[in-house]
Amino acid sequence: MRNDNLHAMPELEITYPSVEGAECPYPLYERLRAEAPVTQVPGTNQYLVTRWHDVQYVCRHPELFSSDSRRSRTPFDSFGDKNPTIRGMVELDPPEHKPRRDACRLSLTPRRLLDYEPMVREIVTHLIDQFVANGRFEMVEQFSRPLPMDVTMRLFGFTEEDREWVGAWSLVETSGSAFISEEAQERQIGYARRAGKRLLEELVDRYEHPGDDILSEFVARNVERTGHFDKIQVRADASNMFRGGIITVAHAIPMATRLLLENPDQLEAVCADSALIPRMFEEALRVESPSQWNPRIAVADTELGGVKIPEGAYVMIFWASGNRDEEVFEDATAFDVRRQNVAKHLSFGDGSHFCVGAPLARLEARVAFEELLARLPGLRLAQDADAAHVASPAFRGLRRLDLAFDMNAH
Ligand code: HEM
Repeated sequence: MRNDNLHAMPELEITYPSVEGAECPYPLYERLRAEAPVTQVPGTNQYLVTRWHDVQYVCRHPELFSSDSRRSRTPFDSFGDKNPTIRGMVELDPPEHKPRRDACRLSLTPRRLLDYEPMVREIVTHLIDQFVANGRFEMVEQFSRPLPMDVTMRLFGFTEEDREWVGAWSLVETSGSAFISEEAQERQIGYARRAGKRLLEELVDRYEHPGDDILSEFVARNVERTGHFDKIQVRADASNMFRGGIITVAHAIPMATRLLLENPDQLEAVCADSALIPRMFEEALRVESPSQWNPRIAVADTELGGVKIPEGAYVMIFWASGNRDEEVFEDATAFDVRRQNVAKHLSFGDGSHFCVGAPLARLEARVAFEELLARLPGLRLAQDADAAHVASPAFRGLRRLDLAFDMNAH
């Protein structure tokens, strides 16, 4: 459902979870960029920011636009009050933010990731082995969800027994209780509580018996920095790593695959030169951003793009819209694996909160596509492929992606 008067749109799709809104949000973004690039959702304290330059400006001015939802007078996300694990680095501002972020970032530097590549390849290979003899597979369940889950569990030193709670907690597609039913909220809070309890037990264990996993590193850095073991703080940041690192990759890989399969010339180029894989993945993230937006809070009465924004308002920065801004990306809707300025995409955020897990996501995707394209010749959409999108207000991904490939090549 679309409203023709942008300045009076009480039913703006942005407040979905309407399935139609989530299915194709791009025409709305395009219209907002053209006609109301900074706009208030009537009747709410939410302001939408949709142009690339404005999104970048908001990210780069944390003194004006805070990441801490407590600065708003009207809570947007009541999970925060009920769930003690939720306020990790992603909700912190300077100067508290950087040391907390560094404590995690140092475990995922590109140099450290060289050590993890064999582990990631082993997981990818094992997943492909499960279906390589069948000639077809369903990518979401059989590949893109287990991959980041297995990688994260191995990095954090979790075992098979933890799979259920890690999966239940990290694969829930919501963002903000404002968007989902009471029942779904309760379920989410239940997962978060159970996960929070288990995570705390694991952290205490790592404090007492450090291992060679990154959770032990987070604990050690926290003790070094604060002079004691602040387990609630480490849990909050470790929770951000979990929640940020699994569902995003789980969505990004099928989206990139579908884009490739729908653009045979691009697929051919990548198959002919696997060195294009990293850039192909960045371009796929630009075209289909797994995280559509994140919120900030106006610290004081301010103005953006000529629109007055009051203190405490939510400022929703739309990565997915900035990524299709024609002022920055020529022919922005086209999927072009050789796009020169693809690095300007906003799908990993921008500024001080730039995704701390980006090097890991890039590693997982590179290894995944190297192996998928090498081992599954003739990869194509299965004839009965159903590629509906998840009905989430903030995450973009496919519910399933049925694929086929040539068997006789094996
Ligand atoms: C394709 C995959 C991914 C996408 C699209 C993505 C997207 C994002 C975005 C847009 C932000 C900025 C949030 C903001 O500014 O409010 C962010 C931050 C973050 N991401 Fe990712 N992410 C991905 C993978 C990962 C992975 C693999 C991890 C962990 C292993 C991770 C952990 C985090 C954390 C902890 C933050 C907060 C950083 C901070 O506040 O300084 N993400 N991510």
